[in-house]
Amino acid sequence: MIMVEKNLDFRSDTVTKPSPEMREASYNAILGDDVYGDDPEVNELERVGAEIFGMEAALFVTSGTMGNAVAVLAHTQRGDEIILEEGSHIYVNEVGGLAVMGQLMAKTVKGIKGHMDPADIQAGVRVDNIHFPPTTLLCVENTHNTAGGIPLTLDQMKSYWDVAKANNLNVHLDGARVFNAAVALGVDVKKIAKHVDTIQLCLSKGLAAPIGSLVVGPQDVIDKARKYRKMLGGGMRQAGIIAAPGIIAITEMVDRLADDHANAKLLAEGLTKIGIKVVNDVQTNMVYVDFSPIGWTAEDWNKTCTDMGWKSRGRGTGTRLVTHYGIEKEDIKSFIEGIAKRV
Ligand SMILES: Cc1ncc(COP(=O)(O)O)c(C=O)c1O
Repeated sequence: MIMVEKNLDFRSDTVTKPSPEMREASYNAILGDDVYGDDPEVNELERVGAEIFGMEAALFVTSGTMGNAVAVLAHTQRGDEIILEEGSHIYVNEVGGLAVMGQLMAKTVKGIKGHMDPADIQAGVRVDNIHFPPTTLLCVENTHNTAGGIPLTLDQMKSYWDVAKANNLNVHLDGARVFNAAVALGVDVKKIAKHVDTIQLCLSKGLAAPIGSLVVGPQDVIDKARKYRKMLGGGMRQAGIIAAPGIIAITEMVDRLADDHANAKLLAEGLTKIGIKVVNDVQTNMVYVDFSPIGWTAEDWNKTCTDMGWKSRGRGTGTRLVTHYGIEKEDIKSFIEGIAKRV
């Protein structure tokens, strides 16, 4: 029997390992060639994924980065300008793919806790003028990673949608952690999906599948994205091996995200008591800390964590700690006790 693996690693929720049920689903997957549309597991994952979000269609891709890339390409033409939040993953952490692959201009808007003021979005939209590129797409991130795992509210999502549609823009959501947002807000993901045209959602983060993302949206946009996926080398063959755990991810692993959120709060409270500064508003599974108030450097932090059997990557005076499948409440408590003893 396979046991649930402990995973004492705070670096990210991308480090999660598949559950025993996921491993079994991979083993038992009935396979076909997905480029021919013949893989039953992929077809089922795409069907269920579209249904959960109330969208027409879905596309299974290798990663969040690929999902965002094919969605952005499907929405735009070479030479368009797109609007993104300044700290968004697509703008900061996807190797400039929008410029390289899409030949797109980026107009960034500075958010507060990940939230872009709709007036700033409006101000970023180009008017129709022979000198200007057309603005065609607004990208949103929910939860917003670098803002501290902040879930943007339904009202905020609606405000982006309203300003986008008033200006004929499409809206793409980088929903790498959109289920964390839905759980934190206590709403069905369909309600978030109502305010966007497409969503990229990661199966391989808090939901613990080993690989992959889905892009969900209208059939015509997903058809275009499928073609871009093939162009990028993402047309996979017997992909049911990795799609089968993805089905479990979106049907069985969502509710437990509440435990990750509770563990993140517990961690934040415990570290605050020790004198470590929590710098973000902890609402989902991320805790950003500054350990300089206890006089520690990143080296001190990293060494202490390693000595206690944890992985964490301090840089400068702080780090991001992410709670996820494989870390239990007891682990958080013993981590806090361990740090307290060493301060
Ligand atoms: C907000 C956000 N979007 C997209 C991605 C990209 O996902 P992947 O690592 O699967 O390419 C990440 C990865 O951490 C992320 O945090």
